Order: sequence, then C-alpha cells, then structure tokens
Amino acid sequence: MIKCQKELFDIPQDITYLNAAYMGPLMKTAADIGAEAVRKKLKPWGIPISDFFGPPNRYYELAAEMIGSNASDIAIVPSVSYGTAIAAKNIKVSAGQNFVIMADQFPSNVYPWIELAEENGAEIITVDWPDDGDWTAAIIAAIDENTAIVASANAHWTNGTLIDLVAVGRSAREVGAALVLDLTQTLGVTPFSVKDVDPDYMIVGSYKWLLGPYSLGFMYVAPRNQGGKPIEESWITRKGAEDFARLVDYKEEYEAGARRFDMGEKSNFINIPIAIAAMEKLNELGVENIAEYIKSLTDYIAERACAIGLNVADENMRVPNLIGINFKDGVPSHIAGKLAENKIFVSIRGDSIRVAPHIYNEKADVDRLFDVLESEL
Ligand SMILES: Cc1ncc(COP(=O)(O)O)c(C=O)c1O
Repeated sequence: MIKCQKELFDIPQDITYLNAAYMGPLMKTAADIGAEAVRKKLKPWGIPISDFFGPPNRYYELAAEMIGSNASDIAIVPSVSYGTAIAAKNIKVSAGQNFVIMADQFPSNVYPWIELAEENGAEIITVDWPDDGDWTAAIIAAIDENTAIVASANAHWTNGTLIDLVAVGRSAREVGAALVLDLTQTLGVTPFSVKDVDPDYMIVGSYKWLLGPYSLGFMYVAPRNQGGKPIEESWITRKGAEDFARLVDYKEEYEAGARRFDMGEKSNFINIPIAIAAMEKLNELGVENIAEYIKSLTDYIAERACAIGLNVADENMRVPNLIGINFKDGVPSHIAGKLAENKIFVSIRGDSIRVAPHIYNEKADVDRLFDVLESEL
C-alpha cells in the first residue's frame, strides 16, 4: 500500500482536514508552479504562443490516462454545470420521455434536466433514497423504455453511498438512454474507466479530489457524440487556431474529437499548470493505489463509528473515499462547534457527518475525530 503523502502538502500538525469533498488542498509543488505562472504574467512577452496549446494538450493526456480514454475525447470545462449544459444541448428528447436522477443529487446535475424536461414535455423521475442503501438497484428499477437520460454519479455526494456505474450504464444502453455522469466526488480516488462504463458524457471538477484549482475541470465526450454542438464558439476550437496570423480566415471546421466543446480561454496559464502538477502526481501514485489507501481510512472510520453505535453504509455499498456517519435523529447541534473548536474539518450533510479523507490523512486524523465524537455523545 502507498504511504501517507502528507509531506507533499502544507497542512499544520494541529489541523485535521477530512474534507476533500468540500475542497482539496493544492500540493506545495503545484502551488509553487501556480505562483510562478502568476509571475509570468508580469512579463507577457515571455508567454509564447505554444503556451496556448502545449499545456492543455498535456492536461488532456493526463485526464485520458486517468479514465482510460483517448486524449482527443477530453474537453476542458470550467465547471460541472458547463459540462451538463453541453450534454443537455446535445441529447435529443421527445415529449413523454423521462430522465432518471437520484434524490438530493448535486444541483449542477439536476437543474439542466429540469429545464430540458420543461422545454420538451419530458418528466423527471427522482429515485428516492433506498431503504437498503442500494442505489444501483433503485436507479435500474426506475429506468424504462421511455428513459432518455440517466444523470448520475459514482457516489451520492452527501454520504458516499455507491452507485455501480457498470450496471447502470448497461441498463441505460439497453433502452437507448444517454448516461451523463458527474464524477466530481470520486474521480482520481475511486477507480473509473470509460471502457467499462461507456458514458455519453462524464464531467469532473478539479478543485476537490483532483487537488486542482477552482474554475477548471474536464469532460469526456464519447466518440459517438463528438459531432454535437458546443455552447460557445471559440476561435481556439476551430481548425488552424495555432496560426495566429490567420485567425480571421474563419473556418467552418472544428478541431477533431471533443475539442469543439472546450471552453473559451481553455489555456488558462495559471490554472492549467497547477492542474497538470496535481494530475501527474495522482496518476503516478495510481488511482487504484490511492483508493486502497483511502479505503483503509474510511474502513477505520466505519469501525470506530459502529463501535459507538453510529451507522455507516455497508462496506460494499460505499465508495472508498467518502463516508457518511449517520445519526438517526440528526447530527446533534453542538457537534459542529466542538469539531471546529478542535480544528477538525468535516461537513454536515443532512443527518450525516460526511468524512472525506485523502492521501494526506492518516489514522491519527480519524482518532482525533473520534476523540471528540466519543467525548461529546
Ligand atoms: C457532486 C458535485 N458536483 C459538482 C460540484 C460543483 O459543481 P460546479 O462545478 O457546477 O460548481 C460539487 C460541489 O460541491 C459537487 O459536490
């Protein structure tokens, strides 16, 4: 198993940061690269045209390596909502069809579907929280021959309960429904391959588990959807964009693959180098290895929670990186304050304390969390 990577981060000894699901920290090297990138802008004559293309190309490669796709299947997006807007613009829907989503799904993967349903006379089917914790079976049961879109994730963002995307993908394909995934809460720390799942669109923000900057993420667009319409028409997505002298020789043709879906100013000279540094490290460690390491912590959290009579999802019903400690009657109101007083950072979502460890955490962090919980309950 890989070891704890805390030395790569700037997390003081008295801070217990268990909240990557809220925001991931940058690695020190990534922050230095970002600071250097900011300084470069003091002297723009030192920023070559190749910086518009080379770093984004590297970012596509790293994203593709992480999800088992081709680099040409990746587009650079600023947010999940941008990616879901692209998907919503391109999926053909007719009256009477339905879209399947989970109860309390993250809004960036809900609002576009509400709009699209209203525009087309389609219906949203919201799958209720399953009593037995089995989202996969519940989602599959909701899919029928009228389903046009299944908009999902690898885990419920509030408590890490698992959705088996291979099984959901298979069911969606059987009825010809498009599968749109927001993997912001799992990618990079829970194994995922487009070869196994075959989504139509997969979107991820980089500022949480991917340890990247805000306002940057990426999107996988299945080759079968790469002839679609982007939501903006940027010069940089068109053929021949490298030739700055000829940009007004307007071109009808886009660059090949998913390039047409890239956001305007995709080359962000500060964010992209930071994201590259982070993705290089995650790929070097390996997603499987990272997942194994983080799972050892969430398993330990489960063990400690059960020992004091609190509930968590069963081991086979949760992702490795995210765990909700459930309180039957809601999280007691004084707990949040006590945790903050002790510099323990987690989130409270619904009736659960959501704990989100990453490669910089170790068992001692979990012990500190439970020292407080045990003394306060
Ligand atoms: C599951 C999930 N998706 C997406 C986001 C962020 O969405 P956006 O990039 O549209 O701001 C979050 C942020 O908490 C999230 O938890």
